[in-house]
Amino acid sequence: RTPDPCTVVIFGASGDLAKRKLVPALFNLARERRLPGGFSIVGYSRSPLSDEALRALMYEAVVRFSSSGPPTAAEWESFAAGMFYCQGGYDDVAGYTRLKERLAAIDAERGTSGNRIFYLSTPPSLIGPIMDTLGASELARSAPGSWTRIIIEKPLGYDLKTAQELNAHISRIFDESQVYRIDHYRAKETVQNIVAMRFANGIFEPVWNRRYIDHVQITAAEAVGVEGRGGYYEGSGAVRDMLQNHLLQLLALVAMEPPISLEADAIRDEAIKVAKAIRPLVPSEVDAHAVRGQYTAGWVGGKAVPGYREEEGVSPTSTTETYAAIRFEIDNWRWAGVPFFLRSGKRMTKRAAEIAVQFRQVPMRLFSTTEADLHEPNLLVMKIQPDEGLTLRLAAKLPGHAIHLRSVNMEFRYGTSFGVRSSEAYERLLLDCMFGDATLFTRRDMVETGWALMMPILDHWAASGERNLHFYEAGTWGPEAANRLMDEGRAWRRL
Ligand code: BG6
Repeated sequence: RTPDPCTVVIFGASGDLAKRKLVPALFNLARERRLPGGFSIVGYSRSPLSDEALRALMYEAVVRFSSSGPPTAAEWESFAAGMFYCQGGYDDVAGYTRLKERLAAIDAERGTSGNRIFYLSTPPSLIGPIMDTLGASELARSAPGSWTRIIIEKPLGYDLKTAQELNAHISRIFDESQVYRIDHYRAKETVQNIVAMRFANGIFEPVWNRRYIDHVQITAAEAVGVEGRGGYYEGSGAVRDMLQNHLLQLLALVAMEPPISLEADAIRDEAIKVAKAIRPLVPSEVDAHAVRGQYTAGWVGGKAVPGYREEEGVSPTSTTETYAAIRFEIDNWRWAGVPFFLRSGKRMTKRAAEIAVQFRQVPMRLFSTTEADLHEPNLLVMKIQPDEGLTLRLAAKLPGHAIHLRSVNMEFRYGTSFGVRSSEAYERLLLDCMFGDATLFTRRDMVETGWALMMPILDHWAASGERNLHFYEAGTWGPEAANRLMDEGRAWRRL
């Protein structure tokens, strides 16, 4: 099955995201023959480029970033034949009129039948002007019998107020059914597997609740720093960049009730329901339940790296957090009293993202708990990256006469079990949008609920200066202070 013939218009075509992710993803889809006949790309930006110059730029990008290897001459020729460029300002109606004419010509030549996706791969300040000009030039409206969709990248607002304004702005020009808000974590293969694992296996659901689960830890650790994005990151920080969106999506998938079907809104309805049951922190709790940190110079992967305040585009007195950890509780029957710990940081020991579900200790200790019996409660770890898979920790008897126990792991690994390249998140998202399937995209209510949860924390930190900012050396697991979120004998996992 392939989607309807269509054209993807990339606003900000000469930018980083288009080169690193979007065009390589579209190329991989073309190579695997997943794209419709006549599929076309139009790059739009302010830079003066010709079709040929855009193709040359994208050729280099695909050679460098395609996860399925560089193109052959024949593959590139056929892919590049559907790639065009249109120059103009983002709020320039004349430019959009040229774009409209170009799109009509492509429809006629390549049979794309008026179906369009507008991909806003631009800084957030341009989203408003682009939408307004799409509206004014009537590009936002679909011709009869065809569809028009818009894909928007994060950040979706800077706080609750600006997110609400952005959503209201979008809804003046587009219907919610036309809007696809990207959260690339949702499209990771292993994240989609959470729903499969929970609801296609009978053994997990009966124990998936407060009676058997002690707590849940959701981690997204990165070894990289701000990678030349200091300017963006200064106005963001770990909560806005990772927790408000990606980690909250993971929490929702782990904690939600079974959906009534796999329809986009059936899943999104359950996700929003559980997200709304998360208890927001009150200002007086923030210091006890949320910790922020910032990395100082250190060593990562054998290389000396600068501290955050020394990065390009970062203020030497910045209080932006490059690490955040939060303890949330969910007020519903399934989860009452079970803490959910979220943490994410840059320049940590290594890149690792996972969800660890820690079960309760057995009710009676039949076995001794001495040095010789090093075993811990059951733990189910869903590894999102790298080494995607599932691990279940069990206690087992050490071979020998005496009864001594050890923790052992039962492993499922994507790589060894399936042996195929998992598709990149952007491949999946672009294809789903072409099919009109919004399951993996964030609905308006989820964006706003995420912000509402984070605001007490962000506001408290903004008013605290440096007071509760904890420094951690690059290459470590984050600030010591994060350990105080862990109570009752719990501990952060060392991955
Ligand atoms: C992005 C953030 O959304 O996710 C980046 O803006 C971060 O700061 C990235 O590095 C992490 O994504 P991944 O897929 O590498 O875990």
